[in-house]
Amino acid sequence: MDASAPILLFDSGVGGLSVLGAVREALPDAPIIYTADNGGLPYGPKSEAEVAARVCGLLGRMSERYRPRLICIACNTASTIALAMVRDVLAVPIVGTVPAIKPAAGMTRTGTIGLLGTAATIRQGYVDRLEAEFASDKRLLRFAAPELVGAAEAKLRGQAVDPAIFARAAAGLRDQPGGVEIDTVVLACTHFPLLAAELTEAFGPQVHFVDGAAGIARRIAYLTRGQPFERTAPDFALFTRTDENLELLAPALARYGLSRMELL
Ligand code: DGL
Repeated sequence: MDASAPILLFDSGVGGLSVLGAVREALPDAPIIYTADNGGLPYGPKSEAEVAARVCGLLGRMSERYRPRLICIACNTASTIALAMVRDVLAVPIVGTVPAIKPAAGMTRTGTIGLLGTAATIRQGYVDRLEAEFASDKRLLRFAAPELVGAAEAKLRGQAVDPAIFARAAAGLRDQPGGVEIDTVVLACTHFPLLAAELTEAFGPQVHFVDGAAGIARRIAYLTRGQPFERTAPDFALFTRTDENLELLAPALARYGLSRMELL
């Protein structure tokens, strides 16, 4: 194993940084390439076929170019749609991000769990299967909150975000039958933990949030156990499209140890 071989994290935008934070804690010496398919953002409103084609194509190109030791799909939408497909076509180990329904089922006291994700994620059979396996004795209420994706993108660019967006996400779950019972909310989109403070304020202190980042970091540490790590160049972020707003991300990327940006 080449000690400088990177771990590649992939998302449609900045959401995967919530996973990168946990990976940094678990593996501080691991060389990382953070990839954002900003040319395809947002994935949530897209069809299954469109998401699968983009993700398989991009990950194929990137693994040829950068020879990662492991790829983490740090995106619930891409993972719930395309994880099996990507594993079929690439030889590199792939770690996906799936909604944290299992830990939420262990945490809830009222038995009612909320799930916030993208429109594509909340309709996936993958989520139905997690619900049947881990939360069949619970009530799971789902709500698509695409506005939160844009809010996280804006927040990390230092731009103002309308607080009504968070109130609408909370109401979208609470206003469903039984919704007032929700005490645990699964953040089933990697953009959403970046808004933890705003969501806590909107939902109130009685609601706890759960996401998959720590579990993913543990899985990556396990799969790379015993491997040498050596960072021979500064870690960077890779984008699929240039736009005038990209430079605004530089301070946020730097906080996650990504000191430059490149274009695929
Ligand atoms: N961060 C992605 C996820 O976890 C989705 C954002 C998007 O709609 O592209 O689902």
